[in-house]
Formats: sequence, C-alpha cells, structure tokens
Amino acid sequence: MRIVVSAGPTREFVDPVRFLSNRSSGKMGYAVAQAAVEAGHETVLVSGPVSIPAPRGLAAFVPVVSARDMLAALRKAVKGADALVMAAAVADFRPARACRRKIHKGEMPGAIALKPNPDILAALSRGKGRRVFVGFAAETERAEAGAAAKLRRKKLDLIVANDVTRPGAGFEVDTNIATFVRPDGSTETLPLMSKAELARKIVAQVEALAGV
Ligand code: C5P
Repeated sequence: MRIVVSAGPTREFVDPVRFLSNRSSGKMGYAVAQAAVEAGHETVLVSGPVSIPAPRGLAAFVPVVSARDMLAALRKAVKGADALVMAAAVADFRPARACRRKIHKGEMPGAIALKPNPDILAALSRGKGRRVFVGFAAETERAEAGAAAKLRRKKLDLIVANDVTRPGAGFEVDTNIATFVRPDGSTETLPLMSKAELARKIVAQVEALAGV
C-alpha cells in the first residue's frame, strides 16, 4: 500500500521570529511512519517542525511549516495513496495578519487577532473515495465522546482517541493510552503501551480497513 502519514505541530507566524504552535513532539506520527515502512508499505511522511530524525526507508519526506503548507502538501501526497494517517497536531488558529518585520517591544499589540485554519481532514475527506482515513483526537477530558462526533464530521474510518492529561499518554512521552473509535460507534480501549507498539496496531487497522 501507499500510506501517507502526517506528524508534528504546525507553526503559525506572528512576525518573522514569533509563532503560535503546540506541544506535539511528532513521536506518534513518526512511529506510525516507521511501522508502515517496517510492514513493507510505500510511506510518505509529511511533517511539521520537530527535533527527531525521520525514519529510514521512507518513499518521501515532506517538511512543512504552517497548516496551509500541510494542506497543500497532503493534497498532493494523498493523490496516489491508499491511506492517510493524520497524526499531526494542526494549529487550529493562525494570526489574522503576519507582520513582515519583527514587532518591537514598544509596539506590542495588546491582543493578537486570530482566524481559523482549514480543517485538513475535513477538506481532504471530500475527495476521499475508497481511501482509508485515520484521525487522532487528543482531548483533556472524555476523549471518546469527542472522538465519535469528529469521526462523523471528518468522514473517518477510525479515530485514535487519547486523554493527553493521563500519565503515560499524549505529548512528548514514548508511551500512549489510546482508544480506537469506529464509525459503527464501537470502541476498543488499549492498555498503556509504547508509541511504537500502538503504531503497529494502527498500521494493522489500516491494512484491515483497506482489505489487505
Ligand atoms: O478536531 P480535532 O483537531 O481535535 O481533530 C483531530 C484530528 O483532526 C487529528 O487527526 C488532526 O490531525 C486533524 N486536524 C486536521 N486539521 C485541523 C485540525 C485537526 O486535519 N485544522
């Protein structure tokens, strides 16, 4: 299969030296890309800025910065692909205006006006066809409840939901505690495991959903 994986945060610039972003380390998405390579799939990794090395054996590595860059890169990457695993932590908002020069201390605005970024999964799922789409739902409470609504709205085949406030789950750590949420409403809660192990389970789900 040709599998596209997105990973990492996006950066949304306020001026050339400042940006809005989030805590994503890229570890979960990179683990999925690595598991896909190891399972013999042609794997494309589209990644926001992270400080970890890309897995070896990728068919392509596409670095991006902003959510809009990521949307453009993924539009191209999913064209010939069988599946998209969207593990990136896309910034939901960007500054309404990015200043072209550094804003000096004395002229700091009291507030930064924001506007919403495109929802990448929702945008891509319009032309989804028979491709398998997997999303993530990182919540700070009742992860499964939010995940079911997300799954319908973004027309996903599977959501990997996790409560990022639980010890051993979420950002920066090497382990995760996830629940698979499916379109029929069924859920499967997995125990604490390494992101590498969870990644292998996600790739196995993608294979099963694609009928491989
Ligand atoms: O709605 P929420 O951001 O919690 O959904 C998470 C899922 O949607 C993740 O798979 C994330 O990569 C994706 N997402 C997206 N575009 C956005 C925000 C999130 O594709 N602007």
